[in-house]
Amino acid sequence: MSTGFFVTGTDTGVGKTTVSCALLHAFSARGYMTIGMKPVVSGQEDGVWQDVEHLKAASSVRLAHELINPYAFVEPIAPHIAAQKTDIPIDLEKIRQSCEKLLAAADVTIVEGVGGFMVPLSLSGLPGERYDTCDLAKVLGLPVILVVGMRLGCLNHALLTACTIKSAGLKLAGWVANRIDPDMLQPEANLQTLSAWLDCPLLGVLPYQTHPDAQQLAQYLDLSRNGLFFT
Ligand SMILES: Nc1ncnc2c1ncn2[C@@H]1O[C@H](COP(=O)(O)OP(=O)(O)OP(=O)(O)O)[C@@H](O)[C@H]1O
Ligand SMILES: [Mg+2]
Repeated sequence: MSTGFFVTGTDTGVGKTTVSCALLHAFSARGYMTIGMKPVVSGQEDGVWQDVEHLKAASSVRLAHELINPYAFVEPIAPHIAAQKTDIPIDLEKIRQSCEKLLAAADVTIVEGVGGFMVPLSLSGLPGERYDTCDLAKVLGLPVILVVGMRLGCLNHALLTACTIKSAGLKLAGWVANRIDPDMLQPEANLQTLSAWLDCPLLGVLPYQTHPDAQQLAQYLDLSRNGLFFT
């Protein structure tokens, strides 16, 4: 039996890759074969895409790069703009087929989303023609894990995202509080508020680390609270 999760976040840069890698390590430590996927990435650095490299390093199953990362754009810009500039439209069906191969090869597939939960992906913005990362998650049909970057403004972003996930008919499997801002005021009160307002399990509170280490951060994830597959 295999399963997968779609990891989204309250924004870009809130820790989706870090949490995805920590999840891969946490499942791996429990003896599961794991693989990470980054369907769409933009922003090449030193000839590679860092998110993809991090996910590969944290995965125990190796598959072809094109399956793990079907779309990679060089410039660090919004994906649909990169798709327009390079004339490479993002095909959700192609991503779904790649994801299916990953799901078949591993016990646990962790798909890292792109930016937040409603990032445009289509070339056209016309009603009926447009699609975004929410549609990508719907096409994949995986339960969603929401990474909340704990900083001022995260309450609104987290609640809006959770609302959109549920309106899309997707299961919100849980959320992870990622302490990206060591100077955030009232972190505990914010945590309590989100725990009360988000109707899904808190899978872990990741502390701020000067040099984040996903393998170390995995110890802060409680997979038994997921209640889906792993107890
Ligand atoms: N718990 C943490 N403590 C300190 N820094 C962190 C923590 N989690 C993530 N970071 C740092 O924050 C930055 C953004 O994290 P990450 O790349 O995981 O975010 P992301 O949501 O995947 O971003 P993107 O939208 O670009 O994919 C990175 O420099 C990462 O090392
Ligand atoms: Mg990332």
